[in-house]
Amino acid sequence: MQKIHVNASRQYDILLDQHLLEQSGELIRRVTKAAAAVIVTDDHVDPLYRETVEVSMRRAGFTVSVFVIPHGETSKSHDILLKLYEFLAEHAITRKDILVALGGGVVGDLTGYCAATYLRGIEFIQIPTTLLAQIDSSVGGKTAVNIAAGKNLIGSFWQPSLVICSLDTLDTLSDEIFADGLAEAIKYGCIWDQDLFRLIAEEDIKTHLAKIIYTCIDIKRQVVEADEFDHGTRMLLNFGHTLGHAIERHFHYETYTHGCGVAIGMATLTALSEEYGLTASGTTEALRSCLRKHHLPVETPMTPQEYYDGCVHDKKRAENRISLVLLKEIGKAYPYQISVDDLLGFLKKEGAPHAG
Ligand SMILES: NC(=O)c1ccc[n+]([C@@H]2O[C@H](COP(=O)([O-])OP(=O)(O)OC[C@H]3O[C@@H](n4cnc5c(N)ncnc54)[C@H](O)[C@@H]3O)[C@@H](O)[C@H]2O)c1
Ligand SMILES: [Zn+2]
Repeated sequence: MQKIHVNASRQYDILLDQHLLEQSGELIRRVTKAAAAVIVTDDHVDPLYRETVEVSMRRAGFTVSVFVIPHGETSKSHDILLKLYEFLAEHAITRKDILVALGGGVVGDLTGYCAATYLRGIEFIQIPTTLLAQIDSSVGGKTAVNIAAGKNLIGSFWQPSLVICSLDTLDTLSDEIFADGLAEAIKYGCIWDQDLFRLIAEEDIKTHLAKIIYTCIDIKRQVVEADEFDHGTRMLLNFGHTLGHAIERHFHYETYTHGCGVAIGMATLTALSEEYGLTASGTTEALRSCLRKHHLPVETPMTPQEYYDGCVHDKKRAENRISLVLLKEIGKAYPYQISVDDLLGFLKKEGAPHAG
């Protein structure tokens, strides 16, 4: 079993191996004295993995109840959150008890936010079962639910007590959802680690999956430890996301998944920054060919104006400026501030402020 220790406002371990669900009860028992646990999962993951976790937790002495939500982003709502709070109250869950998020990023974000707020905060455990959740959403303590005005607008920083990544759970993912997570892995390679990028771009990823996941988690750990509350370095993780969010929103979250939006966002932005001399030449081609290899899209027929409209609605906008993340080359990223007034021209290839 591999272990990554996270040194954030709460210290915790991320465990990584095959078949960890069978031991999840005893692993969780090591980090908590809780008597009762509530497993939160969705209706896809419930029939696949819930029983294994539940049996293991009972064996480790927990009283277990289960709360199942419908799968999908719409479950990150206040409606479901309220039902979960009521469920916890009905089951007399106290501040000494724990929540266990078993599922993808939707389950993790909702459960984490519930844990952060129920009784002013109780402990929770992450058992991520999608590639995206294992390498991204379960690490770093961002928790959130959505409101009509936008995704993740209501949230909290609340670190888990333990993260259990059981690699075998990824075997049941559809190719589409697996590729979605891979877009984020490619992002880590782009912003931080040229060798990781090469591994994903050139090798058989199934053979190297454990190494890829470990490396991605460790990059996120470093970024979170440097900037837990998202005032600086952590923004590098947004590479591809400002345009990606604009793409997802423009197509009403129906045409492109998050990973596909990010893939197009990374490729589109890098093509622009390379043209302006802000990124080493050849970077766009390397990125595009890696994305294509993994059946991820690299372009979409959106106009610069449509990108602009989407970007200025992005919550990452502070006052009159937009923070973009550009690549210097594969493996190295830097923040690039641009005023809202200059953004449309930048997207239209009319010019970049401070271009090299
Ligand atoms: N907190 C963070 O830092 C952070 C970071 C990135 C993304 N997110 C959030 O994560 C969410 C997306 O997460 P996601 O991509 O995991 O989506 P998801 O949770 O919706 O899971 C995708 C689909 O896969 C199914 N599924 C999950 N595990 C499975 C398995 N092992 N086998 C078969 N099917 C399985 C789910 O039921 C769902 O239908 C978004 O809400 C996003 O905002 C949060
Ligand atoms: Zn993302």
